[in-house]
Amino acid sequence: APTAHADPGTDRTRIVAHRGASAQAPENTLAAVDRAARLGFSWVENDVQRTKDGKLVVIHDDSLARTTDVEQVFPGRSPWKVKDFTAAEIARLDAGSWFDARYKGARVPTLKQYMNRVSRNHQKLVLEIKNPALYPGIERETLKLLGNEGWLGPAHVRGRLVVQSFDANSIRTVHRLRPDVKTGFLGTPSVAQLPAYARFADQINSSHTTISRGYVATIHALEGPHGKPLEILTWTVDTAADTRRVARFGVDGVITNKPDVVRKALRTG
Ligand code: G3P
Ligand code: CA
Repeated sequence: APTAHADPGTDRTRIVAHRGASAQAPENTLAAVDRAARLGFSWVENDVQRTKDGKLVVIHDDSLARTTDVEQVFPGRSPWKVKDFTAAEIARLDAGSWFDARYKGARVPTLKQYMNRVSRNHQKLVLEIKNPALYPGIERETLKLLGNEGWLGPAHVRGRLVVQSFDANSIRTVHRLRPDVKTGFLGTPSVAQLPAYARFADQINSSHTTISRGYVATIHALEGPHGKPLEILTWTVDTAADTRRVARFGVDGVITNKPDVVRKALRTG
């Protein structure tokens, strides 16, 4: 099994493989997680949503259409929303062929399958609760599953897990339910708003097109809910030039589809 031992970011800049190594393998599949591990990347990011029968699955879009063969398997069920299909139906879908024929047979993983694989690979996870407004209660269910899979013990909570969302209410809920879990808010709050976010988020994770050196410095001057400096991971950084720009700003990490490109840029400066 592939194993990600060393964190290959520089000491200063974490590298997070966005949806797994998603430029080289189909996003949010076990193959993408394994690919990241084989390349030596310990941090991966994923997106979690919920099926019609209440199972948590790893997929980015609220529809199955772009990344599976659902239109062929279930014609007539347009617009093929994740929430309108059971876990058993989704398990029949091919989530690899759209990317490359070599990945035919890859599946949409359940969160449980995904956590097992990330554990086996000794990886770390930035878990995004995607579209939480569609799935009332998903925060509690996600935390329950993480607990069942052994991901809420002290070592995991300290260094292997961040739960993030674009939805501030969702992140506030995660923080209220499990104050020990590290959280990230996806977005770029105004400087005036940042202290309010720092009450429930350890990270502000912003598009790289929206940040500046001053913004990063403002974040680092604030303290997060665990008494440490607020952090910033920035996305989606896929070129050497953008990597160097945000590294100069002093970001804590980059979320990238091309972790190998980012690693090389950080090493060569
Ligand atoms: O982790 C950052 C990034 O995943 C946010 O955007 O649309 O790729 O989920 P998206
Ligand atoms: Ca995401």
